[in-house]
Amino acid sequence: MQKKADYEQAIKTRYPEPIVFAVVKDKNGKANPVTLGWNMLASGNPPMLAIALQPKRYSVAAIRHSKCFTIAFPNEDMAELAMFFGTHSGSDCDKFAVTGCKTSPAEKIDSVIIDDAVANFECTLESELTTGDHIIFVGRVVACHVNTEPKKRLYTVATNRILGGVVKK
Ligand SMILES: Cc1cc2nc3c(=O)[nH]c(=O)nc-3n(C[C@H](O)[C@H](O)[C@H](O)COP(=O)(O)O)c2cc1C
Repeated sequence: MQKKADYEQAIKTRYPEPIVFAVVKDKNGKANPVTLGWNMLASGNPPMLAIALQPKRYSVAAIRHSKCFTIAFPNEDMAELAMFFGTHSGSDCDKFAVTGCKTSPAEKIDSVIIDDAVANFECTLESELTTGDHIIFVGRVVACHVNTEPKKRLYTVATNRILGGVVKK
C-alpha cells in the first residue's frame, strides 16, 4: 500500500546514498577535493560517471577550466575527511594540505588520485547539463585504480549528513 507524500518526505527514503569525492585542479594548479552525494553511472560503453554540483561551488569553475576531474570512492573510515571536504571551500583553503590526505598524481589527466580511497576514476569532461539548481557534469573514464587492500565504501546513511559504512546482512 502507498500513501501520498510530499517530495521532501519521499526523497528521504533514498538512503543509504554512496558518496564520492571529485578532485579538480583550479586555475592555479591546486588540487581541490569536494564531497558529493549526487553522483551516478552515466554510460557503460564508453564508461562515464556523472556528478551534480550547485553553481556556486568553487569546483564548478575549476571543472570548466581544467576540463577533467578524478572521482574517488572514499572508504568507510573517511567520514571526517568527507565532512571537511564537504564543508570547506577551495576558494579559501587547501583541503589536502590542511587534512594531510595522501594523494598521487593521476596518470592520464591533470589531477590527483586519493591513495586510501576504495577506487579512483580519472575522467575527462564529456558534457554538462544545467538542471533546476544543479549542474550535472558527465566525465568519460580514461583510467581506473583500485585499492590493493579490501576497503568498504562510505555512505550517507540518514538525513542531516549522517555518514557511515553499510553492513551487508
Ligand atoms: C555528505 C555531503 C554530500 C554533499 N553532496 C553535494 C552534492 O551532491 N552537490 C553539491 O553541490 N554539494 C554537495 N555537498 C556540499 C559540498 O561538498 C560543499 O559545499 C563543499 O564545501 C564545496 O567545496 P568547493 O567550494 O571547494 O567546491 C555535500 C556535502 C556533504 C558533507
